[in-house]
Amino acid sequence: MDYLQIKKAGSLHGEIKISGAKNASLPLIAMAILAKNSVSIKNLPHVADINTLLKLLSNLGAKCNRGEEITTIDTSSLSETKATYDIVRTMRASILVLGPILARFGHCEVSLPGGCAIGQRPVDLHLKALEQMGAVINIEAGYIHAIAPNGLKGCNIIFDKITVTGTANIVMAAALAEGVTTITNAAREPEVVQLCEILNANGVKIDGIGTAILTIHGTDGKLIHIDEFSVIPDRIEAGTYLCAAAITRSELTLTDVNAGHLGAVLSKLQEMGSKFTITDNTITIHPSEVIKAVKIVTQEYPAFPTDMQAQFLALATQANGTSIIEERLFENRFMHVSELQRMGANISLNGHVATINGGTKLSGTDVMATDLRASSALVLAGLVAEGITNVHRIYHLDRGYDSLEKKLQNVGADIKRLKE
Ligand code: UD1
Repeated sequence: MDYLQIKKAGSLHGEIKISGAKNASLPLIAMAILAKNSVSIKNLPHVADINTLLKLLSNLGAKCNRGEEITTIDTSSLSETKATYDIVRTMRASILVLGPILARFGHCEVSLPGGCAIGQRPVDLHLKALEQMGAVINIEAGYIHAIAPNGLKGCNIIFDKITVTGTANIVMAAALAEGVTTITNAAREPEVVQLCEILNANGVKIDGIGTAILTIHGTDGKLIHIDEFSVIPDRIEAGTYLCAAAITRSELTLTDVNAGHLGAVLSKLQEMGSKFTITDNTITIHPSEVIKAVKIVTQEYPAFPTDMQAQFLALATQANGTSIIEERLFENRFMHVSELQRMGANISLNGHVATINGGTKLSGTDVMATDLRASSALVLAGLVAEGITNVHRIYHLDRGYDSLEKKLQNVGADIKRLKE
């Protein structure tokens, strides 16, 4: 198994190119199931989760060709409709194939994803919405069995909670359904917006894109032709490198980035003392010697993203004063706290609220990554900890960060990948 060894960095300098967004790529790959042509996708990140979903589609009979620049997905030969446990257990987002496969073939089986390190993460809202569209769903022996022999029908869906992959799944199901589907309380994340924009540009009319009410005009089972497109930049990867700059008090420029997707993150960094120069596709962060304490509450987009909570928590350990971070989306998303405490951080946890007394010196030691974003928080801490930090179990990190150690090495960090 690989691990990362990090030695305390001076300041970082230079440019980091941001990769395509993992969380945008996953639904966009699943969307290829709705297409009659071979779909060409540019700017897919080179991360394990993307390979997992491509493997899932290949197992079902699709032809996937992963290129350096362009990946093609041809689902015309897709014949299997069962997403098995061995793949779903490695990536919960596999549930994204349920909506499009059910809409196209009238039946689909997907292994139940089960819990994960950051919480229970049920998929009940996906299933309830599909049932409203006419699907009959049974859970048997750990599998979701869904059938819709007469196809899916448009209807009014009101999500009890905002769900990102739930919204994407139902948008894709509604794209091939008969009639009009309205989703109220839809997710407004840029990743959902891109999915809707691409469908809308390729023959599935969608009103209300980027708002909480989406109206999808289904094609009544007709597959669509999807033109080549490029995945939006990864706002969480970008936010992570902005935190790397802030924690090491460095000036860094991110390229191929969309600052418009990073409103809440930039605003919190600004409160903490950072300044920015922003162009159409770059962000330069200017260091601040004194990092100020902050109050953060994670919420759905456009508010502060839960996927940036761990990184800001690491940054807050170096702030002057006491920061408060409240996690509202996932009940168990503070696994990085105990590892940061082992490095010397002064953090107390009370339910879903972390109180971070900043200004402590961190010391390098062996720490264990527990989930994707927790892993990057440990890397950030390692950049400023005295001595050597070894981050183990980085397969979590490899799920979602494209070439993290190379990108950090290029800007002067002392980080290397080693074998246990
Ligand atoms: C997506 C992102 C993940 C991010 C999360 C929240 C992808 C591949 N993953 O995950 O990185 O952290 O959004 O921004 O895009 N819920 C239910 N029932 C459901 C579905 C969700 O109760 O059927 C709850 C969840 O447990 C959670 C909340 O709703 O508390 C939001 O979850 P959701 O938006 O669905 O997260 P994901 O789409 O899984």
